[in-house]
Amino acid sequence: MAAAAVPPLGDLSGRRIVVTGANSGIGLETTRALVAHGAEVVMACRSTEKAEAAAAGLRGAPGGVVVRHLDLADLSSVRRFAGETAGDGALSGVVANAAVMACPLSFTADGLELQMGTNHFGHALLVSLLLPMLEREGRVVVVSSIAARGGKLDAGMQAVDLTAPAPYRAQTVYSNSKQANLLFAQELQRRLRAASSGTAVVAVHPGVSATELFPRQMRDNRMGFLVPLVRPVMGVILQSAAAGALPSLRALSDPALRGGEFLGPRHLGQTRGRPELLELYRQGADNAAASRLFDLTEEVLGTGLVAP
Ligand SMILES: NC(=O)c1ccc[n+]([C@@H]2O[C@H](COP(=O)([O-])OP(=O)(O)OC[C@H]3O[C@@H](n4cnc5c(N)ncnc54)[C@H](OP(=O)(O)O)[C@@H]3O)[C@@H](O)[C@H]2O)c1
Repeated sequence: MAAAAVPPLGDLSGRRIVVTGANSGIGLETTRALVAHGAEVVMACRSTEKAEAAAAGLRGAPGGVVVRHLDLADLSSVRRFAGETAGDGALSGVVANAAVMACPLSFTADGLELQMGTNHFGHALLVSLLLPMLEREGRVVVVSSIAARGGKLDAGMQAVDLTAPAPYRAQTVYSNSKQANLLFAQELQRRLRAASSGTAVVAVHPGVSATELFPRQMRDNRMGFLVPLVRPVMGVILQSAAAGALPSLRALSDPALRGGEFLGPRHLGQTRGRPELLELYRQGADNAAASRLFDLTEEVLGTGLVAP
């Protein structure tokens, strides 16, 4: 089992950080470590009931939490969340962490395929709307996956490949959504630099961690009956959710990072270990594909994502 000690985050009093999917798995462990060091975390969750239950376990920490509803699969919810968060004051960071994985074909409230709609489009709009609230040297952390190595997006992609991929292959679309996270992070950083912004965008992958991601995938695909058998095995062979949170925590706090980096564990095929600086996967390093994805994302969302 990889070490899951909280890295030296220092005193985070006065820092406010948005974490999506903060009620479960890696998002919850990211939140737990941040509040343990005095930060205030805005827990951006689609189920306020689940988020309140998770928040109850964090009471008494030096920092604090605010539970706020966010459904990434509904762009009106993303806009409402950003509007409510604007009233809080400056943000130090946002962690685009939430995701769904390899679910059967379904669509968001806005008619986008659910995995791309949640993992990429919802986060792209959210990050864009939160950018003006970030402190000058604020951080955007984008949680990708080793699954991005199976992504098939290239510079010839069309909007329909993102919004309604056909034929629908659930695992490939998940890989594409995680590749899109990497491409988006790289291109966002380039465009922010061009606009003289001091925001640093750091992409991470969390290795393979025991969270609700795999049980949820099994339930979505009518194999929920196997979850009680698989869960204890996951707890033994996979690294902990707390270990999976370490790349996000380092991306938020490491003063040496300037933006554009990729962090994650390296051991055993990058499945476990402490977060290290990694070479970006080929699938995330194609500048032409990144630019194309960014342009198509703006087209689909009907808005510019970075103020000139
Ligand atoms: N676990 C791994 O081994 C692994 C490996 C590679 C990458 N990752 C990445 O790590 C990140 C965290 O995943 P995890 O493993 O911690 O999984 P998890 O325990 O299933 O947590 C996923 C979170 O995303 C939330 N979410 C899903 N759809 C949402 C929506 N429409 N709006 C708002 N929130 C939504 C979930 O909310 P509910 O609780 O309400 O469903 C949950 O809080 C993801 O980006 C995933 O791709 C994980």
